Amino acid sequence: MGVKLEFEGRDIISIKDFSREEIDYILKVAKGMESVAAKGSDMLKGKILATLFFEPSTRTRLSFEAAMHKLGGSTIGFAEAEIASVRKGENLADTVRTVESYVDVIALRHPLEGAARLAAEFAKIPILNGGSGAEEHPTQDLLDLYTIMKERGKLNGLKIAFVGDLRYGRTVHSLAYALSLYNIELYLVSPESLKMRREVLQTIKERIPVSETTNLEKIIPLVDVLYVTRIQKERFPDPAEYIKVKGSYKIDMKTLSNAKKDLIILHPLPRVDEIAAEVDNTPYARYFQQVWNGIVVRMALLALILGATK
Ligand code: CP
Repeated sequence: MGVKLEFEGRDIISIKDFSREEIDYILKVAKGMESVAAKGSDMLKGKILATLFFEPSTRTRLSFEAAMHKLGGSTIGFAEAEIASVRKGENLADTVRTVESYVDVIALRHPLEGAARLAAEFAKIPILNGGSGAEEHPTQDLLDLYTIMKERGKLNGLKIAFVGDLRYGRTVHSLAYALSLYNIELYLVSPESLKMRREVLQTIKERIPVSETTNLEKIIPLVDVLYVTRIQKERFPDPAEYIKVKGSYKIDMKTLSNAKKDLIILHPLPRVDEIAAEVDNTPYARYFQQVWNGIVVRMALLALILGATK
């Protein structure tokens, strides 16, 4: 008999807090949400989600809100710190202890690493980390896994490359931890100054084969999944360092001339110039399908955390 999986009332702060069995179960529930998303549901009727976003977002905030609406719940929140009482000096702990009186669950994005964990320590209701500085973005990595499963039919046995900013890009940190629970090979392609954070590398290297390189051309013919990321200009302490690596990699049809026919390209978005528009209408491009998958995965998470899947 399998171990009983418990999600009700849990925070989602780091993907490291979840086992492979739990991740597989979330992906299974997300698959079941495809048909629910198409017709709508009242599974979360009467429940309220607060989206507290202290940093810009299009996909994470709006897909959390859309997911809640599709399940019959409602949402409140703010999309910029300037209009909240933090502007008057209120701290994060007081903000979450206030908002928890109004809602059942909080999705939080904050520029500081550790902010989501701190919020969870103070809140009595679940906190869903919608991005904590350059640290982690666990709900994004679940939708990334879901997209790979859906588009390639499996995770095990794949060769996957991350390209771009592996130091400041939070999605690649969460995704690396999650993928290291599966039987995959990982290629890390970045400029020297933007290599994968050491603590992530140490953990994943104990579990899966990992190769680091600056040479994108060399790895393109080898891989099944190319996960491209934006260079996170806003997180560089020194603008001169950003100028040195700006535009390091650009995926265009020339770059892809030696790619496997069934390669898929993912990107958490937003993109700047790292994938040329000419790639968008090829079978390689799956980044807009990835956006849709954000809805069903976040529907699954909200339903599980709020105990609506029993
Ligand atoms: N992928 C992602 O986090 O996008 P947003 O910044 O638009 O939420």
